[in-house]
Amino acid sequence: MKFKFKLLYQQMAIFFTMIVCFLAIVGVLLFHLTKENVYQDAWTRMEGYAQSIRDNALKLTTDSQGKTQITLDAEVLHDSEMILKNNDVHFTIYVSPDQVLYPQYGFKSTISKNDWKALQSGKILKRRDDLAGKGRLFKDDHGSHPKVHSRFMPKQRMTDIFMPCFDVNGQLVAVISVASAVSNIHNDFRKVQQNLIVALMICTVLGFIISYLIARYITKRIKKMQAATRQVAEGNFDVQIQHGNQDELDELAIDLNQMVGSLKKSSEEIQRQEQRRKEFFANAAHEMRTPLTTINGLLEGLKYDAIPENKKDESIDLMRDETKRLIRLVNDNLDYERIRSGSMQLNLTKFNATEALNKIMRQLTPKADEAHDHFEMQTQEDIPVCADYDRFTQIFYNIIQNAIQFTTDGTIKVVVKRREKQTGTEIKVSDTGIGMSQEQLDNIWERYYKADQSRARTKGESGLGLAIVHQLIQQHKGKIKVTSTEGKGTTFTLFFPDREIATAKKK
Ligand SMILES: Nc1ncnc2c1ncn2[C@@H]1O[C@H](COP(=O)(O)OP(=O)(O)OP(=O)(O)O)[C@@H](O)[C@H]1O
Ligand SMILES: [Mg+2]
Repeated sequence: MKFKFKLLYQQMAIFFTMIVCFLAIVGVLLFHLTKENVYQDAWTRMEGYAQSIRDNALKLTTDSQGKTQITLDAEVLHDSEMILKNNDVHFTIYVSPDQVLYPQYGFKSTISKNDWKALQSGKILKRRDDLAGKGRLFKDDHGSHPKVHSRFMPKQRMTDIFMPCFDVNGQLVAVISVASAVSNIHNDFRKVQQNLIVALMICTVLGFIISYLIARYITKRIKKMQAATRQVAEGNFDVQIQHGNQDELDELAIDLNQMVGSLKKSSEEIQRQEQRRKEFFANAAHEMRTPLTTINGLLEGLKYDAIPENKKDESIDLMRDETKRLIRLVNDNLDYERIRSGSMQLNLTKFNATEALNKIMRQLTPKADEAHDHFEMQTQEDIPVCADYDRFTQIFYNIIQNAIQFTTDGTIKVVVKRREKQTGTEIKVSDTGIGMSQEQLDNIWERYYKADQSRARTKGESGLGLAIVHQLIQQHKGKIKVTSTEGKGTTFTLFFPDREIATAKKK
């Protein structure tokens, strides 16, 4: 079985690692800083001692030869040392790098010639515990006292400061050294260290709890989305994920909600299309059955000489009409599919729209006369349009034919004009026919849609005309708009952009 590292633990691992890294950095910095502070405190204290020795226990006088004499109040020094005994503080006074004035026995700090030189500049020298053991002096200048040595000078790490003393001529005459056991400093430090460790441990535990809570919060939100997507997968498109407006997960939830919305729409669209398709096939079967039965009957009549000679021509004409109807039904469907799938290429040219429309109207005049409709071409001048000529004809043939179909004893008006702002040609076709309701208007671009089913049956329309027009206009990157009032009439407004615009958009 494959090992699964759950998202919760992944998140926790990330957060916890981050928190621990942060604590480690802060911890190291704090340790370092505290150590430095403890040393600084100790040195300040030791400087205070050195200062007080320089002021109280050392006396500088100038003899008759102008030489500086140093007098030492050893008692003051000794007393001070005794007071600070518990703190393991030792004083040493040098008059030169290798001559110690105090103490005669016991602990003495060493001082190198370089240190002495540095002190001559007036600087106070501070040493950590780096001299521990090796440079530290455990000898006395006046002979060895091993017992005293071992009793009073245990080998331990010391830190010390050196303070220079100058005579009136600015000559370095003595150096006071104050040394303190490093263990004292470390004791102070250890206390702070212990507190720090406790604090860091508490922070680590808190960090663990916080990272668990954050990880659980995030995982919970993701699980909510997972549950929602499962429901969508099962076909429930009414799920909506609750979300705030804060982060990427909320944005994801918004996107998912939108996706569910689109899925719902397209599923409804598919159902609608399916319904239309069923309706179309039912209608098409019905439409086909009537002409086919007629043709079949006439053919049989011809074969068995059942049709009188003078009626034969009429029968053949009837068969031709019926066949044409069938061909149109099939062609319209094929056309629609070709345009929709984009396999039909437009052959864009610039031609005179007025002339093309006049030609269509001439062709449709017999039909218009049949319906007692009157054509009115309001534009006289030549107006150019950029379109595919054949498709242009197809579009207006459909629209004007519809206008005739749905108008009796009325007027069908055509207006052509240039639109300078959007650079293109606008063509309006309006009729004074039966008009359409809002619901019908919303559906006319749909394939197989016919507002009046009973009329469609009798006249053999397939409801494909406007669906094809719509697709063709889209291919031309044009626009189509329709306004209608029931009982008053309908107006179709079409816009064809100029060739440059059409090709630029195509790119
Ligand atoms: N000028 C109009 N006046 C009123 N209704 C119209 C008009 N043009 C279209 N319609 C309505 O829109 C429907 C769809 O038109 P469309 O041209 O797509 O189909 P059709 O004319 O019924 O069939 P086809 O054009 O395929 O023979 C029509 O059935 C009709 O109800
Ligand atoms: Mg039509």
